[in-house]
Formats: sequence, C-alpha cells, structure tokens
Amino acid sequence: MSDEFARDVKKGLSSEPKYLESKYFYDTEGDKLFQEIMGLSEYYLTDCEFEILHQNRDKLLKAFSDAGNPFSLVELGAGDGLKTKLLLRHFHGHSADFTYLPIDISPNVLNVLSYELSRDLPGVQVQPYPGDYFDGLDELNRKDGGRKVILFLGSSIGNFQPDDSLNFLKGLYQRMNRGDQLMIGFDLKKDPHIILRAYNDDSGITARFNLNLLNRINKELDADFNLDNFYHYPIYNPLNGETRSFLISKLAQTVRIGYLDQTFHFHMGEPVSMEISQKFDLTMVDELAGRSGFAVEANFFDSRRFFLDSLWKKP
Ligand code: AVI
Repeated sequence: MSDEFARDVKKGLSSEPKYLESKYFYDTEGDKLFQEIMGLSEYYLTDCEFEILHQNRDKLLKAFSDAGNPFSLVELGAGDGLKTKLLLRHFHGHSADFTYLPIDISPNVLNVLSYELSRDLPGVQVQPYPGDYFDGLDELNRKDGGRKVILFLGSSIGNFQPDDSLNFLKGLYQRMNRGDQLMIGFDLKKDPHIILRAYNDDSGITARFNLNLLNRINKELDADFNLDNFYHYPIYNPLNGETRSFLISKLAQTVRIGYLDQTFHFHMGEPVSMEISQKFDLTMVDELAGRSGFAVEANFFDSRRFFLDSLWKKP
C-alpha cells in the first residue's frame, strides 16, 4: 500500500490546487472516527438509511429473493455492517436462502464484522472478501453463477469525483448478469444548513477525521505535518449539490515527507482539497441509472425524504 499511497500523496500535494484522496481516510483510526461520525446527531445520513431499511425490510426481502429464490447478498464497503445486520437478521429470521458477501479494502474491518456475525447471527452464511470491489466481484463470478444483489449503502457513491461515479456504475454493470440487482444509497439535496452541519459537527469529530489523514502521512510516510497548523473547512454548494471539505493552512509552512525525500510548501490560507460528498436529486439518480444501463425498480425514502435507497436491476 505504501508505494501507491506515497505516489498519490506526492501527486496530490504537487498539484495546483493541492488535494488528497479521501479513500485514504480509512486507516484503523479513520475507521474508528467514521464510526463516531455515524453516531453524531448532526450526521443524519445513518439514521435515515437505518429507518429506510427497517421500514422496508419485508419489501426488500421479497424484492431481493425474487419472491423466494436463493441469492448472494454482496455488500461493497461493508464498514461495520450495522445497517446490514438489521437486514441479515430479518432475512435469516424469515428463512431466506442467501449468502452474505461483504467486500472491503480493510481486512481489519472484515475480521471484526465476521466475528460479530458469527457471534450474533451464527446461522447466516458469510464469505468475506478483503480487497478491491471489482476484484471481489470478478472472483465471485468465477466461482458462482447465482443471482446477485449488490448493496452500496451510505451514499458512498457521493465520494467519487463527478465523472468517476458513472464509470464505477458501468464497471458494476459489466460484472452483473441480467436480473441481478443493485441497491444504492443516495443522500438527497435538502436545506443547506442541515447538510453543512453534518460535515461540521460541534464536537469536531469530522475535523479530526480529515486531519487524521495528515497523521497517517506522518506515520506511514515519515512526514512532519503539524496538525495544529491546519483547520477543517467544509462548504456546501446548493446549486450543484456538492459538499466539499478542505484543510486550510493557518500559516506559511514547509512540510517534509521523508519517504518521498521531498518538501512541500503551503501558503497562509492555502486549501488542500480533501473530500467531495455529492448530494443528489431524483433527476440525477435517474440519469445515473439510465446512463449506466440499469432500470430503476423501486425507490425507498425515509419519512423526511432526506435520503434514498434506490433499487436497480440489470435488464
Ligand atoms: C463514507 N461517506 C459516505 C461519508 C460522507 O458522508 O461522504 C464520509 C464522511 N465524510 C465526512 N463525514 C462523513
């Protein structure tokens, strides 16, 4: 990982404007901080999606099992599987014939999840795959021709750069068979204050989550970032639905990254672009589905219509 990480950090910090890739947020400390974010009162996304899955658990079982048939439930970016556990418990309780296949880049996350599932839901068949989503799906396709239902929850689709989300969806489409389904979580456009607060919580956890990437660079690439010299600055643009977060350099400073044998200069007030969290409307969702080849089968909203889980099928 270090070489690829080092290459991406070098590229991002040598660019104008500077950026770092948010996929690198998730080291062990980042995983922990993201868990904390999901528990924050400001971070409405998790509760909304939990409500959707809970309210629609019967309908989802019917749709996923195609009224009683076996299926592989593939989850991309399993995280701690909190929301999925709700579904797994319900499906298992209704004797559904399915295997759960969480795919996650972090073996650490998958180990914890597998342990918890074997303890709490011992009857559920679990086949974790540590690694890249597409590699995991390719491996599954080589082994098994069964029907797949893919979950991509939490509005992680919003963390792709604008053009990359469509390419990602096309990549999923190619790895699915006719009749396979994909359920994606989309955080919807809403009162900009509510959105901005979710990325600027009072307790400063989201700030720590962003700053942790500098710490990761310090630890893994032998750098000397002083975290006190940067602050977290999120913005939301209601015109295009983009939430973006930046780390701003409080002063003119030079940081050395030992692993690269290179220094990087930051001006006072200079932003480092850290993350995009796109917010969607229904037109955008329909367009993404259509352009990647999928048919929208059903849309599930929470009671406030803050969030959408959209169920698509490969026709
Ligand atoms: C993982 N992803 C959907 C989160 C989001 O809302 O974009 C990551 C996150 N960043 C800051 N808070 C949460």
